Amino acid sequence: MYNQTLRSQKELVLCEDGTNTLFSKEFNEPYHSTKDGALHESLEKHVKPALSLKKNATKLTILDICFGLGYNTFATLYYLKKHKLKTKVHILSPEFDEELIHSLESFTFPTEFKDIKDIINAISQNLFYEDEQFKIEILLGDAREEIPKIREKVDIIYQDAFSPKHNPLLWTKEFFSEIKNISKEDAILTTYSIASSARLGLYENGFFIFLHKSPLVRASTIASLKMLDGFEYIDMELKRVRNPVARSFKDCDYI
Ligand SMILES: C[S@@+](CC[C@H](N)C(=O)[O-])C[C@H]1O[C@@H](n2cnc3c(N)ncnc32)[C@H](O)[C@@H]1O
Repeated sequence: MYNQTLRSQKELVLCEDGTNTLFSKEFNEPYHSTKDGALHESLEKHVKPALSLKKNATKLTILDICFGLGYNTFATLYYLKKHKLKTKVHILSPEFDEELIHSLESFTFPTEFKDIKDIINAISQNLFYEDEQFKIEILLGDAREEIPKIREKVDIIYQDAFSPKHNPLLWTKEFFSEIKNISKEDAILTTYSIASSARLGLYENGFFIFLHKSPLVRASTIASLKMLDGFEYIDMELKRVRNPVARSFKDCDYI
């Protein structure tokens, strides 16, 4: 399924929001939507909706799938620091590309991340960072093996794997079942994907599905184990009636 010989082959790409991302030869896909932009995608599709929904929490555990360039983790820290929020945050993030993480020290991140440069360097060197407010752990290895080992229940999941078409193993019904197993009963999941296959995989694991809109980026998906107010609810049963061939991805189709 994966082609490790291509893993180190990446090209720097400038996104339309002025921030940098990479293009992966292995997955034949950029790490972020170059149209929406790396920073805008992180903030608008993941960090802002997730932290707004959990604004009353004093402590949060976040599963960031997968670490990549770390934008989602770093944008979370940036957002909390910018708004002087004291929420304690523990981020767990699987990633199998160790070389990429060690290279982040010299990656040109947006100026928004300048105040967390020391944290970026620590993670790049040690795959770990901890202070009074934040604990960040990179789970080095395959997400499908690392996630079932997590013993802490998570409040938020950032599902930011390469697309279902290019990395189907991280979008199957069985993979989402492993995520559900480590989720708190009111956990929410954010993802850029609006694909029916992804939404069905989540729905079949008990998640309610919502459309999330932000003026800066294209629409995305929020999945929640509890019903949410203030978001456009997607009726997946109706979707099934309208598109009877739509189905979730299954492990047996890819393993
Ligand atoms: C789209 S990028 C993630 C972008 C990242 N969230 C960010 O904000 O920069 C996908 C990442 O998933 C990693 N990856 C792909 N399949 C994986 C797997 N099965 N286990 C662990 N990491 C995986 C890739 O190495 C890549 O870094």
